[in-house]
Amino acid sequence: MRQNHYLPFLVVAMLTHTLWSFGQNTPTSVIEQKVDSLLRIMTLEEKVGQMNQYNGFWNVTGPAPDDGAAAKKYDHLRKGYVGSMLNVAGVENVRAVQKIAVEETRLGIPLIIGFDVIHGYKTISPIPLAEAASWDLEAIKKSAAVAAEETAAAGINWTFAPMVDISRDARWGRVMEGAGEDPYLGSKIAVARVQGFQGDDLSSIKTIVACAKHFAGYGFSESGKDYNTVDAGSNTMYNIIFPPFQAAKDAGVRTFMNAFNVWNGIPSTGNSFLQRDILKGKWDFEGFVVSDWGSITEMITHGYAKDGKEAARLAAIAGSDMDMESYHYVEHLASLVRENKVDQALIDDAVKRILRVKFELGLFDDPYKYCDAQRQKEVTGKKEFQDAVLDMAKKSIVLLKNEQELLPLKKSGLNIALIGALANDKNSPLGSWRLAGDDNSAVSVLEGMQQYPNNTLTFAKGADLSIGETAFIREVKINERDTSAFAKARTVASKADVVVMVLGEHGFQSGEGRSRADIDLPGVQQALLETIYKANPNIVLVLNNGRPLAIPWADKHIPAIVEAWHLGTQSGHAIAQVLYGDYNPSGKLPMTFPRSVGQSPIYYNHLRTGRPDELSDDLVFWSHYQDQAVTPLYPFGHGLSYTSFAYSNLTATQPASSNTIEVSVTVTNTGKRAGKEVVQLYINDTYASVVRPVKELKGFELVSLQPSQSKEIRFTLDKDALGFYNNQGEYKVESGDFIIYVGGSSQTDLHTNVDYKKTE
Ligand code: BGC
Repeated sequence: MRQNHYLPFLVVAMLTHTLWSFGQNTPTSVIEQKVDSLLRIMTLEEKVGQMNQYNGFWNVTGPAPDDGAAAKKYDHLRKGYVGSMLNVAGVENVRAVQKIAVEETRLGIPLIIGFDVIHGYKTISPIPLAEAASWDLEAIKKSAAVAAEETAAAGINWTFAPMVDISRDARWGRVMEGAGEDPYLGSKIAVARVQGFQGDDLSSIKTIVACAKHFAGYGFSESGKDYNTVDAGSNTMYNIIFPPFQAAKDAGVRTFMNAFNVWNGIPSTGNSFLQRDILKGKWDFEGFVVSDWGSITEMITHGYAKDGKEAARLAAIAGSDMDMESYHYVEHLASLVRENKVDQALIDDAVKRILRVKFELGLFDDPYKYCDAQRQKEVTGKKEFQDAVLDMAKKSIVLLKNEQELLPLKKSGLNIALIGALANDKNSPLGSWRLAGDDNSAVSVLEGMQQYPNNTLTFAKGADLSIGETAFIREVKINERDTSAFAKARTVASKADVVVMVLGEHGFQSGEGRSRADIDLPGVQQALLETIYKANPNIVLVLNNGRPLAIPWADKHIPAIVEAWHLGTQSGHAIAQVLYGDYNPSGKLPMTFPRSVGQSPIYYNHLRTGRPDELSDDLVFWSHYQDQAVTPLYPFGHGLSYTSFAYSNLTATQPASSNTIEVSVTVTNTGKRAGKEVVQLYINDTYASVVRPVKELKGFELVSLQPSQSKEIRFTLDKDALGFYNNQGEYKVESGDFIIYVGGSSQTDLHTNVDYKKTE
């Protein structure tokens, strides 16, 4: 029978009464005492229950389910065997499950409610890879803060974001969720996102708990196939993969998620080195680790555990604190403890970590604090959020190419042909991973361009991009054949002064499980592009995509190319404002664009081979391809503006008796419009006890300049910038020759040398 009162919750409150405070920002020591008091009165089963997370797939507001898996979950929830639920959203639903946890269980411990808020809840911001292209940390932080406020108003208090996996292989569908290929940029963005989600006060009803995922190596899955094996050496692990995770930890992220992949023969979920030695040991992380979805049970499939009980044992020992949807903790952990196969202290440690976060959220003060229907109504989709995601979307756009200043477009007197199914698409711009977003809620490019009424605008789709989608998981079927609408589009194009073509990927072609073996324009779009080009070559190509694409033909023939990713709710307005020059683009690529899929993985911060191209006049025996250049199509850090910038007066010196290198450069706006430039600083440690990359980003600054205006930009490179981890994970700074590069992309050649001497 369901009880309808607060009794259990009050029992816990009274038991720990003297220690509990009801204010905000409870001091850490008080929280620790509360956690300890609560732990003392919990049974083993209740402790294990806190480590169990269920997906809320049943109708949580309806009557109790009477059979199957849902009934079991419901029963466990009532017994206090569930510490968290995911995918329960909206205040009514969250209140329903929270009520069971708080009012029907013996101790009334509230649930923490998780949801994948990857780039917005209802108000959808650009996909994370696009946001990374802004290099604008304040804007990224604001975007996460907006998402947090809207999410919290929907009853949810924990997002499984940010994904801080570094990724170098555009075939991997999940590159859209991260910040790209660079550990320095990735670390800065990880911090901005954690701060945006969590704010200064986790107990505020505008903030939520963040989760750094997927620890570790998941972005390096073999051949870009999702869930696949990772073979990354210590040098890559310590210097490329770990830094954004460590930065997130240092920024106070309260949870980590482990990963599906095997690294060094051990699944991350069962990996003690990663979770105990590095994360909870060396980095002293005090929050908790949640498994990835079913990743504990997948250790059986990997061939690492013989059955569910063994998987539970291995995961718990390795430091996985919460089991997401494997059911093995709830089934086996208590008996494993009783059989002395898992130390009770490990369970206590995991439960403390989980309870600590619940206390920090203020859930014990008011378990329904996120469940205010009125607030949900007022906050969801509010104007301030729309403005923020529009701003973010404009900042995320990268101008890849702009010959003869085809862009920006004149605002009157033009006859414009708008071609491509994506131009009239209100769904794809929302991108992948927008679980709570409403279908077809984005502003399309057509709608955005209609805001400029003094040109003639004619739309012709040319071809469908998708010809269907499976329900629920939304696997997209791409139109590989039907070109019947080409002719009409060609006619429209032939009469136009300029053609704007919106081509690229469907929103569900990237994301989890959505790897691609080819990364060209999907379906018949390349053929459409070439057909239209024959009718009118004056084309502005706007790309919508969730990953770098290989578009060598377009690069060779199309005069203007705009990378517009999947920009979210305000996509069409952002694109139109950039095309018309009401916003001068300043985005820079956070991931290299290859010439072909065969170049993948391709990234700027690679090691120098013994036979690099610049040293070799040999035609054969150097590191290259016979049939294609080794250089990328568009390098990391590339992005143009409607104005131009020049760099001069680069100096780099090590002041006497200092351990830093001081860098200075002058940047001048040499064009006719005001604009922003991302000034990028790279170093090359020319020789070291571990081979260092040819270039490493170590600083950047976003500068706004009026026409003809110059500004001196200074950087200080300290030991954090000049050192590296050796293969034992020790951080080393070594004296020697450093090359300091500054410029507007990773291909900058402007440099100076410093003979650096470590003084201590
Ligand atoms: C993904 C995670 C996600 C989780 C919960 C998994 O399949 O790998 O990133 O947070 O599902 O939805």
